Amino acid sequence: MLEIKNLHASYGQLNAVKGVDITVNEGEIVFVVGPNGAGKSTLLKCVSGLLRPTSGTITFCGKSILKEQPERLCRSGLALVPEGRHIFGTLSVEENLRLAAMHRKDSAEVKKDIAWVVETFPILGKRFKGAAGYLSGGEQQQLAIARAILLKPKLMMIDEPSLGLAPLVIDQVYASLKKLNEGGMTLLVVEQSTARVLDLADEITVLRNGRVILSQSAEEGLDGQALEKAYFGYQTEETTVAALTPHLHMQEQSKVVHLKTH
Ligand SMILES: Nc1ncnc2c1ncn2[C@@H]1O[C@H](COP(=O)(O)OP(=O)(O)OP(=O)(O)O)[C@@H](O)[C@H]1O
Ligand SMILES: [Mg+2]
Repeated sequence: MLEIKNLHASYGQLNAVKGVDITVNEGEIVFVVGPNGAGKSTLLKCVSGLLRPTSGTITFCGKSILKEQPERLCRSGLALVPEGRHIFGTLSVEENLRLAAMHRKDSAEVKKDIAWVVETFPILGKRFKGAAGYLSGGEQQQLAIARAILLKPKLMMIDEPSLGLAPLVIDQVYASLKKLNEGGMTLLVVEQSTARVLDLADEITVLRNGRVILSQSAEEGLDGQALEKAYFGYQTEETTVAALTPHLHMQEQSKVVHLKTH
């Protein structure tokens, strides 16, 4: 459904994503895990049309989306739940949900979908008429995900759903991701830690310093220890050199790798 190949993205001189490949097949839940500054949000910004990559390709449902505007991408079925939840605090939960479905003309279906999200996230039903700003962090995260569901996307991307939440609340949010995926939703989720994702993931990619360090699929077997090692300790020559010489251009860094290894 989504194919990212050899993607590079920068902010001026800073190369934030350096040659990333990720594939998300229909019905899968794929995680990209990495520490602060790894390039995770940048990757999602590129896919959702908020940032133009410097090179590489991104195809969604077989078509290149490199030149598409964010609104068009959203209408064609790519929804992003950005970092830090974006909900309207002064509006009620119901109004937040209705606003998300505003562009849809199938009002009978919208009604059904609202009933589905309320069933999936019972807290939203309980607080339906209350101001969304009074929901707790975890509840607001559920509302943000519910709003994305109402866009009726083909692929939902979520940037750090567990950010700033207590462990118990993370469990609830993850239970809802599981339910969503089991209901057929394709998901690309970015997280800072590998801790919770092993049970759920069809694929996990560890990103550091803008590069893919390790990619594993559930089909071939997910190895928690290897993933953690990739996340924390183990570095390829390339990433070590990149970390030690951030002032050098990528081509210069590869020359250093070449010198060190030959
Ligand atoms: N708008 C911007 N302008 C300049 N540099 C940016 C901008 N956004 C991100 N960066 C830089 O790009 C790199 C990757 O940032 P990104 O936000 O993609 O990381 P991340 O993996 O999402 O990190 P976190 O887990 O902290 O959210 C970082 O070095 C960051 O400082
Ligand atoms: Mg981020």
